[in-house]
Amino acid sequence: MGWREVTLVALLVACGAGGARSEQVRNLEVSEGAPVGTRVGFIGDGSTGITGPPYLIVPVPGSAGEIKTKVKLDRETRSSYSLVAIPRSGENIRVVVRVLDENDNAPTFPSAVMEIEFPENTPRDVKRTLNPARDQDLDIFNTQRYNIVSGNLNNAFRLSSHRERDGVLYLDLQINGFLDRETTSEYSLVIEALDGGNPPLRGSMTVNITIQDVNDNQPIFNQSRYFAVVPENATVGTSVLQVFATDTDYGENGQVEYSINRRQSDRDGMFRIDPSSGLIAVNRPLDFETKEIHELVVVAKDRGVQPLETTAFVSIRVTDVNDNQPTINVIFLSDDATPKISEKAQKGEFVARISVNDPDSKTEYSNVSVTLEGGEGHFGLATQDNIIYLVIVSMPIDRELKANYTLSVIATDTGTPPLHASRTFHVRVTDVNDNPPEFSESEYHANVLEVADPGTSVIRVIATDRDEGVNSEITYSLIEENHSHPAWFEIDPKSGLITTKSHIDCETDPVPRVIAVATDGGNPPLSSSATVLITIHDVNDNEPIFDQSFYNVSLPENEAKGRCILKVSAVFNIDFYMLYSAFQLGNNAIIFFQNDFKKMPSTEMHEFL
Ligand SMILES: *[C@@H]1O[C@H](CO)[C@@H](O)[C@H](O)[C@H]1NC(C)=O
Ligand SMILES: *[C@@H]1O[C@H](CO)[C@@H](O)[C@H](O)[C@H]1NC(C)=O
Ligand SMILES: *[C@@H]1O[C@H](CO)[C@@H](O)[C@H](O)[C@H]1NC(C)=O
Ligand SMILES: *[C@@H]1O[C@H](CO)[C@@H](O)[C@H](O)[C@H]1NC(C)=O
Ligand SMILES: *[C@@H]1O[C@H](CO)[C@@H](O)[C@H](O)[C@H]1NC(C)=O
Ligand SMILES: *[C@@H]1O[C@H](CO)[C@@H](O)[C@H](O)[C@H]1NC(C)=O
Ligand SMILES: *[C@@H]1O[C@H](CO)[C@@H](O)[C@H](O)[C@H]1NC(C)=O
Repeated sequence: MGWREVTLVALLVACGAGGARSEQVRNLEVSEGAPVGTRVGFIGDGSTGITGPPYLIVPVPGSAGEIKTKVKLDRETRSSYSLVAIPRSGENIRVVVRVLDENDNAPTFPSAVMEIEFPENTPRDVKRTLNPARDQDLDIFNTQRYNIVSGNLNNAFRLSSHRERDGVLYLDLQINGFLDRETTSEYSLVIEALDGGNPPLRGSMTVNITIQDVNDNQPIFNQSRYFAVVPENATVGTSVLQVFATDTDYGENGQVEYSINRRQSDRDGMFRIDPSSGLIAVNRPLDFETKEIHELVVVAKDRGVQPLETTAFVSIRVTDVNDNQPTINVIFLSDDATPKISEKAQKGEFVARISVNDPDSKTEYSNVSVTLEGGEGHFGLATQDNIIYLVIVSMPIDRELKANYTLSVIATDTGTPPLHASRTFHVRVTDVNDNPPEFSESEYHANVLEVADPGTSVIRVIATDRDEGVNSEITYSLIEENHSHPAWFEIDPKSGLITTKSHIDCETDPVPRVIAVATDGGNPPLSSSATVLITIHDVNDNEPIFDQSFYNVSLPENEAKGRCILKVSAVFNIDFYMLYSAFQLGNNAIIFFQNDFKKMPSTEMHEFL
């Protein structure tokens, strides 16, 4: 430029410093940022009546007082300048240079990052004020709008803004949708502010949004039903199973505590649960026979201020351990339900009914094996269904041989190890009248003197009966047959003692025979008989007559005792009393005769000779 620079600096004076002279005002404008040397205007451009260069300091010939920029101006630093030009003559000229705005400032947020929090489930449209961006430029060049550049997942947020009197465009963040911490717990929004320049200038800020937890989720079990099996002998404290629930909430809202709902289940407290781990353990001794399936209602509850809870079902099956002996029930099938059987019982006849119950397996007690011991083969077991067993007679029994059998029923279950049970009982064999009385001899011999008075004892016959009770009660009687002297003898029905009933007469019948009968009390009665030969001894009315008058017998000296040396067969009419008297040598022959005459065969006479 051909223009000399005008130094205005010295002319810059404070407003009103111009003294009393009147002044006129020149308003000039220049854009800020204009290059150095840009002409701002002329002080005297002819609008006044000034002529000639009026300026005091820089009278530039021919110049009308040109004002140029000397440095780059910044409206935001200083938006106007005022100076007074004092001409040599005339009025002072007040020059006011207004710096015009240019879009040389971008909107700026006070901080690059802002942190805010929203509780989840905050309703739509709730707003939170954000720091606004400020732009030192004016009007259109000031902040005009805000945008969310990134991070707005699912359009969760929107912005709203309004300008207030101070010219700032204030900014609010508004909830646009549904906030769920469990879906998105944090947002990081990048927000930009734009001014109205062309192109607009921008500033940006990051807003980190933390979504705060609300206890809006209940705990959830990983299974709706749990199953477990535990043996009945599991000791108290044994772990059975673990339940597990999760709660997606945060902190205490998400901490799960477990419990058993005792109102609905396990009132007896057979199980317990660890509140924090969910481990279910045996709390009291279990018993399969009492309860096989335990259904627990397990509760998971969070620790929120308003806790939420869920339930799950736990089925615990108690398995049997072979801890119960089979029990044996015996019913005796006799008329009075006592253990007895008649000796006349036939093969197959029932003695007792056995049922076996094994509490360890309600449905499977038929698997218990049952055996019978004792009885010496006379008894056996019969069953059709392996449930009911019958003790039966398997071989004829005879009370007279054995009257009391000891039987044992043994039940063994199929457990491991097997348990046994046994029941022992004595079976009494009851009598039937199957034995007749038996006389001790089949033939009795007795002697009686002819002179005996009625009522004299002759002989006692004895019969026994192997049966018992009335079946062995014997009554004696006589049958006077085959002779004509029914009136001579009688027998005591109880004792069997035969006595004379009247006077007897040897000459009529020297050896009368009577038949003694023993009858038992059975029904029907059994009887047997024995012959009693009674020899009547004549006292004096007949001489004793040997069939020989002399007997000559020779014996070797060492003859064995008991050997027959002489037979005196024709002694029918001999009075033995006299005979023996004749031979008696003064010792025991009489006693022998009286007590045991019948046993004294004639062959033994040599003893007395
Ligand atoms: C804001 O969030 C972003 C993205 O998650 C992260 O990188 C940044 O460190 C956060 N700023 C602050 C101050 O927490
Ligand atoms: C339970 O019973 C079984 C079978 O009898 C045995 O093997 C096991 O040791 C028992 N357990 C306990 C804890 O007694
Ligand atoms: C549930 O959790 C329990 C305990 O942690 C575990 O034993 C079981 O396997 C889980 N069930 C499922 C279906 O994941
Ligand atoms: C019981 O016996 C039946 C038939 O013999 C058999 O099928 C079943 O397995 C047995 N049960 C046991 C527990 O042994
Ligand atoms: C059978 O014998 C046993 C002992 O061997 C005894 O205890 C029981 O009383 C007897 N029973 C009868 C009816 O005699
Ligand atoms: C009775 O006598 C007859 C014949 O005289 C004989 O057959 C019968 O056996 C005798 N009875 C007795 C019991 O001796
Ligand atoms: C008895 O018999 C024997 C031989 O037979 C004879 O030697 C003896 O003389 C007889 N005695 C008398 C007394 O007759």
